[in-house]
Amino acid sequence: MANLGLLLGSIFLSIFILPCLSCPEYQKQALLQFKSSILASNSSFNSSTFGLESWNSSSSCCQWDQVTCSSPSNSTSRVVTGLYLSALYTMLPPRPQLPSTVLAPLFQIRSLMLLDISSNNIYGEISSGFANLSKLVHLDMMLNNFNDFIPPHFFHLRHLQYLDLTNNSLHGSLSPDVGSLQNLKVLKLDENFLSGKIPIDIGNLPNISTLTLNDNQLTGGIPSSIQKLSKLETLHLENNLLTGEISSWFRHLDIYTLFDLSKNHLSGEIPASIGALKALKLLNVSYNKLSGKIPVSFGDLENVESLDLSHNQLSGSIPQTLVKLQQLSNLDVSNNQLTGRIPVEVPYIALSQIEGSHLPIMQGSGIPPNSS
Ligand SMILES: *[C@@H]1O[C@H](CO)[C@@H](O)[C@H](O)[C@H]1NC(C)=O
Ligand SMILES: *[C@@H]1O[C@H](CO)[C@@H](O)[C@H](O)[C@H]1NC(C)=O
Ligand SMILES: *[C@@H]1O[C@H](CO)[C@@H](O)[C@H](O)[C@H]1NC(C)=O
Ligand SMILES: *[C@@H]1O[C@H](CO)[C@@H](O)[C@H](O)[C@H]1NC(C)=O
Ligand SMILES: *[C@@H]1O[C@H](CO)[C@@H](O)[C@H](O)[C@H]1NC(C)=O
Ligand SMILES: *[C@@H]1O[C@H](CO)[C@@H](O)[C@H](O)[C@H]1NC(C)=O
Ligand SMILES: *[C@@H]1O[C@H](CO)[C@@H](O)[C@H](O)[C@H]1NC(C)=O
Ligand SMILES: *[C@@H]1O[C@H](CO)[C@@H](O)[C@H](O)[C@H]1NC(C)=O
Repeated sequence: MANLGLLLGSIFLSIFILPCLSCPEYQKQALLQFKSSILASNSSFNSSTFGLESWNSSSSCCQWDQVTCSSPSNSTSRVVTGLYLSALYTMLPPRPQLPSTVLAPLFQIRSLMLLDISSNNIYGEISSGFANLSKLVHLDMMLNNFNDFIPPHFFHLRHLQYLDLTNNSLHGSLSPDVGSLQNLKVLKLDENFLSGKIPIDIGNLPNISTLTLNDNQLTGGIPSSIQKLSKLETLHLENNLLTGEISSWFRHLDIYTLFDLSKNHLSGEIPASIGALKALKLLNVSYNKLSGKIPVSFGDLENVESLDLSHNQLSGSIPQTLVKLQQLSNLDVSNNQLTGRIPVEVPYIALSQIEGSHLPIMQGSGIPPNSS
C-alpha cells in the first residue's frame, strides 16, 4: 500500500505539476551516471571540476543546464534531445584527459538529436555505442583526442547534418561510406592524421555546403566528383599531400565562396574557367606547383577579396584585368616566375596591399610598385 501511495503520488505529481518538465527516469539516470563517471575518472576531481552543478537527482533532467528536451510529435511526454557538453572543465589549462569510456551512459539516450562534446580533452577510440544514437542530426566532437579510425558505424547515422571531428588524432583513410551521410551539410575532419585518397563517394553528398579536410595527410588527386556538390560554398583542402591538376575538376559553380587548396603538390595550369566562379571571395592556391599564366579571366571574379597565388611556378605577366576587381584587398603573387609590371590602374586599395606585406617578387623588366 505504501508503494501504491508512492505511485499515486508520483502520478499526481507528474500529471499536475511536472508534465512538461519531467524526463524519462532512465535518461536521468544515464546522465547522472555520465556525471559520476567523469568525476570518478581522476581522483583529483571534485564536484566543481565540471560545470554540472545543476545535475542532481532531485530535479527533472529537462531542467538541468546543458540539457534540452522536447516532445515527439504524437506524445505529451518529453525526452532528452540535446546535450550541450562543450568545454565542461571549469579549471584553467592544462586540463587532464578524460577517457572516451566516460561517454558510455550517453549511448542509452537514443532520443538525442544534438550532442556537443567538443573541447573536453577526451581521448581513446570512438565507441561503437554511437551507433545507438541514430537520431543524431548534429554531432560536434572537435578539439578532443579521439584516436584510431573513424569507425564504420559512424556512417550509419543517416540523419546527420553536421559532423565535426576537427582537431583530434584520427588515423586511417576516409571510408567511401561517408557517401551514405546523405543529409550532411557540414563535414569537418580537419587537423587529424587522415591518410589515403579522398573517396570519390564524397561527391554523393548533395546538400553539403562546408567541407574541411585540411591539415591531414591525404594523397592522390582531388576527385572530380567534387564538382557534383552543387551546394558547396567552402572547401578547405590545404596542407595535405594532394597531387594532380586542378583543371580536371574546377567547373562552373557559381556559389563557391572560399577555396583553400594551398600547401599541396598540385600542378598544371589554373584553368580559364575559374572566371565563372562569380561568388568566390577567397582563393588560396599558394605553395603548390602550378605553372602557366595567370588566366585573364581572373578579372571576372567580381566578388573576390583575397587572392593568394604565391609560391608556385606561374609565369607571364599579371593580367591587366585585375584592375576590374573592386573588392580585392589582398593580392599575393610573390615567389613565382612572373614578368612585366603591375598594372598601374589597379585600384589604390589593392596596390597599397601589394606594397604592404605581400610585395610580389618581380623578375625581368618588372617595375616595382611605388607610392604614387
Ligand atoms: C588527474 O588530474 C591531475 C591534475 O588535476 C593530473 O595531473 C593527472 O595526470 C590526472 N591523472 C590522470 C590519470 O589523468
Ligand atoms: C575542488 O578542487 C579545486 C582544485 O582542483 C579546489 O580549488 C576547490 O576548492 C575544490 N572544491 C571543492 C568543493 O572541494
Ligand atoms: C538540484 O538542482 C536544482 C536545479 O536543477 C536546484 O534548484 C536544487 O537546489 C538542487 N538541489 C540540490 C540538493 O542540490
Ligand atoms: C509515435 O508515432 C510513431 C510512428 O510515427 C510510433 O512508432 C510511436 O509508437 C508513436 N508513439 C506514441 C507514444 O504513440
Ligand atoms: C544501446 O542502447 C541500449 C538501450 O536502448 C542499451 O541497452 C545498450 O547498452 C546501448 N549500447 C551501448 C553500446 O551503449
Ligand atoms: C537537401 O536539402 C533539401 C532542403 O534543405 C531537402 O529538402 C532535401 O531532402 C535534402 N536532400 C537530402 C538528400 O538530404
Ligand atoms: C589541435 O589544436 C592545437 C591547438 O589548439 C594544436 O596545437 C594542435 O597541433 C592541433 N592538432 C592537430 C592534429 O593539428
Ligand atoms: C594561403 O595559404 C598559406 C598556406 O596555407 C597561408 O600561409 C596564407 O596566409 C594564406 N593566404 C591567405 C590570403 O589566406
